[in-house]
Amino acid sequence: MNICTIGIGYVGIAAALGFASLGHFVFCVDKDEEKIKKLNEGQIPIYEPKADELIKKYKKNLFFTSDIKSIADKTNVFFIAVGTPSKQDGSVDCSHIFEAVDEVIEHAQKYALIINKSTVPIGFNSELKKYIKNKTDIQIDIASNPEFLRQGSAIEDFLNPQRVVIGTKSQKAIEILKEIYAPFNVPNERFLITDENSAEMIKYAANSFLALKISYINEIAKLCEKTNADIQAIKKGLSLDNRIGDKFLNPGIGWGGSCFPKDTKAIINIAKENNIELKTIKSAIEVNQGQIEHFVKKITDFYNNDIKNKTIAILGLAFKPDTNDTREAPSLTIIQKLKEKGAKIKAYDPWAKIDTINQFESCKQALEGADCAVVLVEWEEFREIDEKEFLNLNDKVIFDGRSVFIDRNFKKYGIKYFCVGKNEQ
Ligand code: UDX
Repeated sequence: MNICTIGIGYVGIAAALGFASLGHFVFCVDKDEEKIKKLNEGQIPIYEPKADELIKKYKKNLFFTSDIKSIADKTNVFFIAVGTPSKQDGSVDCSHIFEAVDEVIEHAQKYALIINKSTVPIGFNSELKKYIKNKTDIQIDIASNPEFLRQGSAIEDFLNPQRVVIGTKSQKAIEILKEIYAPFNVPNERFLITDENSAEMIKYAANSFLALKISYINEIAKLCEKTNADIQAIKKGLSLDNRIGDKFLNPGIGWGGSCFPKDTKAIINIAKENNIELKTIKSAIEVNQGQIEHFVKKITDFYNNDIKNKTIAILGLAFKPDTNDTREAPSLTIIQKLKEKGAKIKAYDPWAKIDTINQFESCKQALEGADCAVVLVEWEEFREIDEKEFLNLNDKVIFDGRSVFIDRNFKKYGIKYFCVGKNEQ
């Protein structure tokens, strides 16, 4: 089928490449001309595993443009995957969706189906229907189709969805979406058709629940440190209960990224507008902020609260591995706090770049001449580092915020090792 994706961010690129690889022809529209130029040259503007390979492999099924008019007669199915950032008050800015919808309305020939993949407040797609009705006589259906992919495994997640959620009251829209998703072979019980509001809510509820799960394990980790228990054993013990499961129970320096912080704030805001207080989600945010303080305190406690002029090697800047994204990354706040206390930073991340930080080309370079090492992202390449690399640290101490080196025996080398949820090893 010919389809169009509007907005080529993480969701848009994964959807475009995913649909193209399953045999659809995808017209990809983004108003950023520079981005379109790069995509036409086969370059992916973000770091996302597999994307480079797929854009080359399926180039016959892809067309990139900034001009929706030029492709308006080629398809009547438009997936919207534009950004819906947080406003200052925690509410959601949906202006990019309106811009995209206006373009579709302007150029749609007869019938059109707009499928919204962007995360939007509950009730937004119903409102959008009214908005469109006031603007055009052409029949335009709306469906909500929230996306659950994770950055760093975006393509993999898109191609192997655990569930497809469709929110619409239009039978025609359902039929079209069933046809589009047919090559994914999603079992019937995982293909959920519901109303728009419920589909929108599923997305917020899922992200908030996952954020809550991480905050929960981080609180238990804190208690483990006080009670001489080992969070890794607790995690294992919990995950053997399949009502709990083994996912999203990694303790650390908290959750960041472009979704959890934004979506937890948004759902609290939506609840507030409906005179409801979401106490669990509020607590999850509070615990998440506290987790950063807790980790920084581990470092400052070690130095008797004096890290002035200490040189700290930071390993990892992205909000998680396999992405170069630093939006709401815990590293940003941790580094800022360390700098405020007078520390000097030397950092390394395989992909992420932060302009204001002194960055190096390898772990080895970042560690050279540093007093201590602080691990903030569980990049796979860090797991390969030899213990001896840390012997050159002046103070021979590692603070591991992501339990990357949890199974190493640093004591043997006279190196002190601190992680989250277990006392010094
Ligand atoms: C999330 C959701 O998982 C995805 O379904 C949704 O579509 C978008 O938001 P993403 O933000 O890409 O995906 O990353 P995710 O893997 O969920 O991690 C979010 C944050 O939680 C990261 O900072 C990560 O380091 C942290 N995290 C995750 C933990 O601290 N512990 C864990 O066990 C898992």
